[in-house]
Amino acid sequence: MATSTSAQPRDTWGSKLGFVMAAAGSAVGLGNIWKFPYTAGESGGGAFVFIYLLFVIFIGFSVMLTEFAIGRKTGLSAVGSFKSTDKRWTFTGVLGVLSGLLIMGFYPVVGGWALAYIFKVGGGLLSTPEAIGDSFGGFISHPMQPLTWMGIYLLLNVVIVMKGISGGIEKAGKILMPLLFVILIIVSVKGLMLPGAMAGLEFLFMPDFSKVDGNVVLAALGQAFFSLSLGMGCMITYGSYIKKKENLVQTTGMVTAMDTGVALLAGIAMFPAMFAFGMEPAAGPGLVFVVVPQLFAEMGGAVGLVLALLFFIGLTVAALTSSVSLLEVVVSYLIDEKGLKRSTAVIGSSVVMGLLCIIASLSLGGVGPTLFGTGVFDIFDLLTDKIFLAVGGMLVCIFAGWRLSRSDLEKEITNDGEISFPLFGLWYTLVKYIIPVAIAVVAVMGIKSGFDSGKGAIMLLGIGIIVLTGIFSKKL
Ligand code: PHE
Repeated sequence: MATSTSAQPRDTWGSKLGFVMAAAGSAVGLGNIWKFPYTAGESGGGAFVFIYLLFVIFIGFSVMLTEFAIGRKTGLSAVGSFKSTDKRWTFTGVLGVLSGLLIMGFYPVVGGWALAYIFKVGGGLLSTPEAIGDSFGGFISHPMQPLTWMGIYLLLNVVIVMKGISGGIEKAGKILMPLLFVILIIVSVKGLMLPGAMAGLEFLFMPDFSKVDGNVVLAALGQAFFSLSLGMGCMITYGSYIKKKENLVQTTGMVTAMDTGVALLAGIAMFPAMFAFGMEPAAGPGLVFVVVPQLFAEMGGAVGLVLALLFFIGLTVAALTSSVSLLEVVVSYLIDEKGLKRSTAVIGSSVVMGLLCIIASLSLGGVGPTLFGTGVFDIFDLLTDKIFLAVGGMLVCIFAGWRLSRSDLEKEITNDGEISFPLFGLWYTLVKYIIPVAIAVVAVMGIKSGFDSGKGAIMLLGIGIIVLTGIFSKKL
């Protein structure tokens, strides 16, 4: 069982591999397999991928290490870790909890799609390949169907998080993540063998920088943060469960590499096939649900069916190991800071998330409120991925660089000098100076482009929410 208050000794991960797999489980999810390919497709391909990789290496790695170090040092979750050091920083944690809540306002909708596709594939979806595209469009805009699946998906989260951290999450991740990886490799090989597939690889890996604007750069930064589960206290919370003798640098390296590897592999699995099928790279959020089933249909027979089933089972589990980490951020805040029982915290927060998801899901069928012409699903996505996570990551770096002492950080990261980390100085400089400035520059560029593409008002709304969080979080 996980601990309930910070006064008790904190539950730690069962084994080293268990922790790496759990953190990788949080990172690898819909962000890699659903979001990365379609965002790359919409953002022009190679140049986006190139910038995303730069951000992962120079920003993502350092921010993840920072979050692990803060979490393990304080032994507290998102809000408590800041609050216990300096009350004025509480708002950074609160912003993280808010991000968790909002991401969980749309993530389970997509998780529900993945779950539904296990049954759709089982029910004969692959036997009519021509209908796969329309079937997806019809499904997500249907009022009730996706809501039912979302509800079931959310319930699975509740069951896992209710059991506490090392019970459910660790086991599921250990078995199903490697399986998903293998299936992605099989799908990639199959896709690459199709005639005309090379154009897809070129699209994905040959940068055409004429397609880059502020929007693309911000999308790449947001993708790096979203995919690595950064900027919202998730890795701080997970870090608080890491044993003192674990090597944080190595763990960060492994998690970052796995996450990025899966994203690239998902791209390789999808783009060659798309080009071979003559589909549009900018097909949007339906990409994985349309291209992958078509590929399996192409394989035909029992092999195609079994692989398709395993793929969507794997995708659902990958999504689950991520969404439970999002839920855990909100839940551990309610337990640690508000003194709620785990069961009350889990049920209370998932009811709110469920309500947000209902509005988000309906918005895809054109039902419900819009703001500046944008539906709720997209608003939650834009606010978190394009604004809150990046700002959260920037604040984490400023906190570590300017509020914590260099020697404390060095002690935490090197386990009191036991582990050598020759790049400590570089990491520290990145965290203290370069990353905050880089994020600020990207954010300003992105907001400017946001205005050009009609999304500026939502970005301003996001900044407004951050300011309000700053003002009101003193009460939390
Ligand atoms: N990284 C997860 C994914 O790629 C999503 C996530 C974001 C999880 C932020 C936790 C925190 O699907």
